Amino acid sequence: MNDTRAAGNGEGAGGFVAPEGFRLLPGHFDRSAQQALLDEIRAVVVEAPLFTPVMPGTARPFSVRMTNCGPLGWVSDVSGYRYQPAHPVTGRPWPALPDTLLALWRALAPGARDPQACLVNFYGPEARMGLHQDRDEADFSAPVISISLGATAMFRLGGTTRKARTRSLRLASGDVVVLGGAARLAYHGIDRILAGSSTLLRDDGRLNLTLRRVTD
Ligand code: SIN
Ligand code: FE2
Repeated sequence: MNDTRAAGNGEGAGGFVAPEGFRLLPGHFDRSAQQALLDEIRAVVVEAPLFTPVMPGTARPFSVRMTNCGPLGWVSDVSGYRYQPAHPVTGRPWPALPDTLLALWRALAPGARDPQACLVNFYGPEARMGLHQDRDEADFSAPVISISLGATAMFRLGGTTRKARTRSLRLASGDVVVLGGAARLAYHGIDRILAGSSTLLRDDGRLNLTLRRVTD
């Protein structure tokens, strides 16, 4: 197989073995489905504008801007990371989760309870995200499901410890990643955005939508 993006499972270059439960579904959403989803996310952003989160303690701003939809939203500010039912700037409840995302979750996470949060991360051409685990949820039995729209990102996938080997994978517009099983707590991050890689969003912008179950 020449498409290295599809080699997410099993052994890759340098002996990297993706944690069990990692899935990459390249091109899961075709261009027209990407456009429809983008329109739904634009409507979310009108109601719940993107904000710039800051790191707990240091107050250093993130390079991504964020918003959320669904009953709960993930936020980060000087006092820490948490989920909350309202937008930190407007104070209004987060907009509803689009049906397309609920349907995706139910198809890829059969048996899991419905997602409670969809974090919307917007990356400009210089944005990145450091290696981290998603662990602010009380329930790790449900997977994390993420959808990429717009510019291709260099995604870094590691193991369940910070020092485990990592591997770089490209996430293109329409790709879906599932972090389930052992991969639910896999370290991951975004090294960079590839300029000129998509025409879906203007100016090499990228959106990543992350669906999560929060409470157990
Ligand atoms: C995240 O881990 O929150 C974002 C991952 C991505 O942008 O693909
Ligand atoms: Fe994450």
